[in-house]
Amino acid sequence: MNEDTKKKLVETAIEYRKRAYSPYSHFKVGAALLTKDGKIYGGCNIENASFTPTNCAERTAFFKAVSENDKDFAAIAIVGGKENEKLQFCPPCGVCRQVMAEFCDPDEFLVILGTGPEDMHTYKLSEVYPFNFSGKDIE
Ligand code: THU
Repeated sequence: MNEDTKKKLVETAIEYRKRAYSPYSHFKVGAALLTKDGKIYGGCNIENASFTPTNCAERTAFFKAVSENDKDFAAIAIVGGKENEKLQFCPPCGVCRQVMAEFCDPDEFLVILGTGPEDMHTYKLSEVYPFNFSGKDIE
């Protein structure tokens, strides 16, 4: 994947981070999920007073895409940080990694973590979530 595409994903994730609803943690996360045919779905974290229903930015993006019948994904960019502070690297939580593993090829799907378009690190899903449980395990 070329650098411009990665930068665009990080920039989109930064835009969606502005929509985070996080009055409890004050931690804001944005995600931008790229389909193999070039569409981008953005997501933000959405918290809840009951805590458990909180949805991470990554899963918001995945569930938006799947509900639009898009299920072939190339990459996701994730940005996060405390409200009113500089962005920090924000690795996806275990639940979001499991959702990625449901839909994405672990050796092809890219996870891009950044604090800005000039500061990005790219990993394969298999690097950030090795030895995952999947549908194959329950065949
Ligand atoms: N969060 C995300 O949205 N994505 C991550 O990868 C890590 C955590 C959210 C969940 C919660 O709203 C806040 O960040 C603090 O955990």
